[in-house]
Amino acid sequence: MKKLIIINGPNLNLLGKREPEIYGSLTFTEFLETIKDKYPKVKIDYFQSNIEGELIDKLQEVGFTYDGIVLNAAAYTHTSIGIGDAVKAIETPVVEVHISNTFSREEFRHSSYISPNAKGVILGFGLQSYELAIQSFL
Ligand code: DQA
Repeated sequence: MKKLIIINGPNLNLLGKREPEIYGSLTFTEFLETIKDKYPKVKIDYFQSNIEGELIDKLQEVGFTYDGIVLNAAAYTHTSIGIGDAVKAIETPVVEVHISNTFSREEFRHSSYISPNAKGVILGFGLQSYELAIQSFL
C-alpha cells in the first residue's frame, strides 16, 4: 500500500471559514474524508501546523519512508528558506500544491522556496489541487 501524507501550513486549519471566496467553504476534514473514501487502497496521512519548525520536523520525519508528500506550505511557501531546504534534504518526492492560483494574486505570492526542489507544482484548482497531487503519485 502506498503511503502518502498531506502537509498543510499556517491558517489552512481555518479552511471553510477563511476567505471562502478564495478558499471555498468546505473544511479540510470534510474534504479529507471524501478523498480517503475515494482512494481506499492508498494510506493518506494528514498533518497541519501553523508553526514553521513543526512543518520542518514533519518533513524530516516522513521524508525517508513515505512514497509521496503533498505540501501546501501556505504563506511559508513565499518566505521559508528552512522549509525549502527541508524539501531538498529529504528523499521522498514532494508535490507542492496551492488552492488558489497564486500567480493571479499579489506579487509576493508569485515566488516559492518549495518549487525549485518539488517534483511538481499544482495550483489554482481549489481543493482539487490536492487530489491531482495524490493522483500524480499513483
Ligand atoms: C495558499 C496560497 C498562499 O499564498 C497563502 O498564503 C495561503 C494558501 C493556497 O493554497 O492558495 O495560505 O497556499
